[in-house]
This record gives sequence, structure tokens and C-alpha cells, in this order.
Amino acid sequence: MRLGVNIDHIATLRQARRALEPEPAFAALLAEKSGADSIVVHLREDRRHINDNDLYVLRGIVRTRLNMEMSISKKIVDIACAVKPNQSTLVPEKREELTTEGGLDVIKNFSKIKEAVLKLQDEGIDVSIFVDPHLNQIRSVSKAGARMIELHTGRYANAKGKMQELKCLNELRSAAKFAKSLGMNVFAGHGLDYNNVTRVAVINEIEELNIGHSIVARGVFVGLGRAVKDMKELIN
Ligand code: PXP
Repeated sequence: MRLGVNIDHIATLRQARRALEPEPAFAALLAEKSGADSIVVHLREDRRHINDNDLYVLRGIVRTRLNMEMSISKKIVDIACAVKPNQSTLVPEKREELTTEGGLDVIKNFSKIKEAVLKLQDEGIDVSIFVDPHLNQIRSVSKAGARMIELHTGRYANAKGKMQELKCLNELRSAAKFAKSLGMNVFAGHGLDYNNVTRVAVINEIEELNIGHSIVARGVFVGLGRAVKDMKELIN
């Protein structure tokens, strides 16, 4: 199982003081040295953590894969086309949210998403779309031309009680199978931590998990390198 490490929170800490440290590029190098298979950053329209300069610096130093989470706004798509991350993950974005809340509604925004997918792919960027594990959304991801999909695990992570958790896991399993049957590479993420990750990691069709908050939170106490190693061991 591959591990994508989201380092947005390193920049969040820097921005708490509008300071120069901690430096996201150092986090990226350390995460890669500790087993990360890709580095994930979200360039938000309000630039609340990662900024344009971070993205250019990361493009220069990341030796695994740089996965840029992004909205489908024209300005952000143009930046991605200039920076050329290995991968773009299209996500919904609202100014007032603390983190990405739900998956992208590909059915509702189909033509705009398809246009963004084609533009990014034309620049040689792999495109993944972050959606809730619903079959009709998954079908639309494939129709929009994306060859990769990231299933939103937030509902599973927030499930109250065993029954609800099992229901969410079954939903993720069926979604992963369906996406794979359409020929897509299947990833998952959001809200995964050291307690809940293994039940998702055993789903055969899922190739990669993208994790941020829990790794950076553990990193505060044990060091980021150790936290990445622990997670990589756990998901394998
Ligand atoms: N995947 C996507 C598409 C996300 O937007 C996020 C949050 O930035 C994550 C994964 C990681 O979520 P978490 O920080 O809860 O691990």
C-alpha cells in the first residue's frame, strides 16, 4: 500500500505566526526519507497554509510524486498547468470550511470538471477526483475522463458505533470494487488515523492512502519521520 503524506499542517503552523518556519520543504524531504510514496499539498484559493512559492519549491525537490489537491477554479488550474505536479486531485472547496468536507459533486459540476481534467491531462498531469463512495459519482468520474479516483473516508472515520462503521466500510469496499472495474486507480483518504486505518488498508482495490492530520499530530510528539514510518508499517 502506498502512502501519500499531506503536509499542509506544517504550513498551517508556519502561518500561525506568519513566520518562516516550519518549512514544508523540510517536511517533504523527511517524509520521503521515512517512506512516503508521495507528498500531498492543497493550494487553497485563500492560501491559508500552502502558498504558490511552496508549490514551486516542492516541485523542485520532491523526488517521489507531488500530488496537488486543488479546486477546479480557472486560476488554480492555470497554476497547476504551470507548476506541473505529477498529479492533481480535484476537491471541492469552501472558504469557511476547516478542511475538505465532502467529495466533489461530479454529477452537478460535470462539464466544468471534464474541462479541467482534459486541460490538466494535456499538460501531462495525472488527474484524480475526490468523491464520496457513491456509485453514481464514481461513474461520472470515469465519464469525465479521470483515470484515478480518491474515495472520501470521512464518513467511515466519523462513524458512531460498530454498526455505522461496518456500513461505511461496506460502502467503501463496493465503491473501490466498482471504480476498479471501470479501470481506474483507486485511492482513499480523509480522517484516517493510527486506530482506524488498517480496516481501509486491507481493501484490495485501494492502492494508496492519503493522510495528513494524524501523521503531523503524532509527529509533534515522536518526530515526523517516526510518525511516517509508523503509518507506513501499519498500512502494510
Ligand atoms: N485526501 C484529500 C482529498 C484531502 O482533502 C485531505 C485533507 O486535506 C486528505 C486526504 C487528508 O485528510 P486528513 O488530514 O484528515 O488525513
